[in-house]
Amino acid sequence: MEIPSLYRITCLIIEISIYVHWPFCELKCPYCDFNSHVRELIDEEIILQCYLQEISLYKAAKKIKSIFFGGGTPSLASPKMFASILKYINSIRVIDNCTEITIEANPGSLEAMKFIEFASAGINRVSIGVQSFEEKSLRFLGRKHNASAVKKAIEYADRAFKNYSFDMIYALPWHTEENWAEELNSALEYAKYHISLYQLIIEKRTKFFKDYTLKKFHLPQEELAADLYSITNNILAKNNFKQYEISNYARDPFYCQHNLIYWQYNNYLGIWSRGPWKNIHKW
Ligand SMILES: C[S@@+](CC[C@H](N)C(=O)[O-])C[C@H]1O[C@@H](n2cnc3c(N)ncnc32)[C@H](O)[C@@H]1O
Ligand code: SF4
Repeated sequence: MEIPSLYRITCLIIEISIYVHWPFCELKCPYCDFNSHVRELIDEEIILQCYLQEISLYKAAKKIKSIFFGGGTPSLASPKMFASILKYINSIRVIDNCTEITIEANPGSLEAMKFIEFASAGINRVSIGVQSFEEKSLRFLGRKHNASAVKKAIEYADRAFKNYSFDMIYALPWHTEENWAEELNSALEYAKYHISLYQLIIEKRTKFFKDYTLKKFHLPQEELAADLYSITNNILAKNNFKQYEISNYARDPFYCQHNLIYWQYNNYLGIWSRGPWKNIHKW
């Protein structure tokens, strides 16, 4: 009998990664065009059931290579929810010591205090949305946290996890080669394993798009932006961080396994909850 081709393909997949999307945030950042929304009420139990149902639909692949809880701001959800998801996945697939399990977090103090509980739930890596260590940049980027919360969050991450990363955004209106190099060098004092460094992109349908179009701020010219990128790569190399994709750097062997899945076109499941929720942010 002819074996259906989809069956043949799924049987060849021996391991898979899972991305779980938590689409909620406390505030909508003015530069962000991600699928992230501010919502008055979030029914975690319904969302959990939706996640589990979706995960159960995919039958192939026994072993889980990595799991990434991204957002939005998944660190706003309770550690209990992640424990239930991981327990369920472990009951139908194999999660072992090699499975990288990451959660994205904001540096808010309440979230940082949950890091130990996230670790007890089975998460073994955190990626913190630091964005900047400078108050001026944090205010421009519309972030609620301040520089001291950033340092505290990293300290908590270091205590709770054996692996952590943080994100920063650069090529801001006032960035020059000198001040960005200085900022980056001091930020690297807090980076042990992995760091993501993104140049600010003005995305359509964001507040920044409106403000930029109205010339309320300007961005570094292309040539300066290119120089900022080269400086970034040089500083990271000097500090023993290998650039393993456009904006991500790691000290060997802490390359983000989940990130590599995307860049190497490997297999992953994308899970998100399509709950009945109302979007309340408007630009
Ligand atoms: C999926 S987001 C979410 C992380 C988390 N919610 C946070 O913002 O703290 C991942 C990262 O993308 C970066 N990012 C988002 N929008 C961007 C933009 N318009 N330009 C450059 N970087 C951006 C930020 O550094 C952010 O931390
Ligand atoms: S916290 Fe992150 S995902 Fe949420 S709006 Fe801000 S940048 Fe976007």
